[in-house]
Amino acid sequence: MKAAFINETGPPEVIQYGELPTPEPTGGEVLVRVGAVAVNPVDTYIRNGADFWELPIPFIVGCDLAGVVEAVGPGASQYQVGDRVWGSNQGLLGRQGTFADYCAVDESWLYPTPAGVSDEDAAASALVGITAHLGLFGEARLTAGEKVFVQGGSGGVGSAVVQMAKAAGASVITTAGSNEKAATCRRLGADMAVNYKTDDVDAAVREFAPDGVHVFWETQREPDFDKIVEYLAPRGRIVLMAGRDARPEFPVGPFYVKGCSLYGFVMFAATAQQQRACAEDINQWLASGKLKARIDRVMPLTQAAAAHRLQEENTLLKAGTLAGKIVLLP
Ligand SMILES: NC(=O)c1ccc[n+]([C@@H]2O[C@H](COP(=O)([O-])OP(=O)(O)OC[C@H]3O[C@@H](n4cnc5c(N)ncnc54)[C@H](OP(=O)(O)O)[C@@H]3O)[C@@H](O)[C@H]2O)c1
Repeated sequence: MKAAFINETGPPEVIQYGELPTPEPTGGEVLVRVGAVAVNPVDTYIRNGADFWELPIPFIVGCDLAGVVEAVGPGASQYQVGDRVWGSNQGLLGRQGTFADYCAVDESWLYPTPAGVSDEDAAASALVGITAHLGLFGEARLTAGEKVFVQGGSGGVGSAVVQMAKAAGASVITTAGSNEKAATCRRLGADMAVNYKTDDVDAAVREFAPDGVHVFWETQREPDFDKIVEYLAPRGRIVLMAGRDARPEFPVGPFYVKGCSLYGFVMFAATAQQQRACAEDINQWLASGKLKARIDRVMPLTQAAAAHRLQEENTLLKAGTLAGKIVLLP
């Protein structure tokens, strides 16, 4: 089969595109013929040598996939040949990745793709959707009627958080890096979207939530906690999920006097059962149109190295040339 893989970590150019043996599904694994994959920032950290865990060599990059079951292992019972499935947990914790014609995935990490939802949309919603769900509902316990601030609503995670918060009956204010991206956030359901480069964000928050927001979701790696705590309502919750090396200042007094809480998490630490519960809601929202994948562009899998470069130029260097997911087709 053809695959995008690395034999050593390093810059995007270490990604090769070539022939690797097609995997055989063993135990509870299912062999998926890949229809689409999506790029996540974590793919680029792993490729660059982040050393979170030991990698198989050659290592096929990528976490997200959607496709069709081609074969089932002897211990797999949930899926049959021809079923459409998606998943987001390959390429993590030492597992082989998804950027290939075929991928062997333990069935516990696969979910059925709803009729009418494309492989592109399922792959693009996978890791970011599960992340948004875990943070909003598992950690921050968002309830209907609450107000949510999403920092960076045009990105992969941010656009999922905006839509899920709306689907749960909350109201949403979000920031984006251009008027066009702010308009996109409003189309995704945000009640208010402000251009963080040109608009007065403080004034917008005061207008949107005079008593403060109940949940603040930070997608950026260097949170400004003085601002965040100022924006929060009493007993407000902050969700953090980016910035491993960040060591920002923290306003201890204002935080505890307001009775606030801070939640941090990483999606790949969630159990298969927890992630499946997220996937069930994601499937319902994808099928009903409440959740739409925010796809910036679709490229051939042969362009995996270019896709990694584009992703890291944006997530790390804030180039602003991307709004949502890069989807690749084998
Ligand atoms: N903990 C976990 O489990 C987990 C899971 C997934 C992702 N992550 C991490 O979460 C972060 C976001 O991931 P992602 O996939 O959403 O990345 P992404 O698609 O690159 O989105 C990042 C967004 O940040 C926005 N942004 C840049 N500067 C900003 C600023 N000053 N204020 C507000 N927004 C700003 C950009 O929007 P504009 O272009 O509009 O400026 C961009 O869309 C990454 O660091 C990733 O590693 C963690």
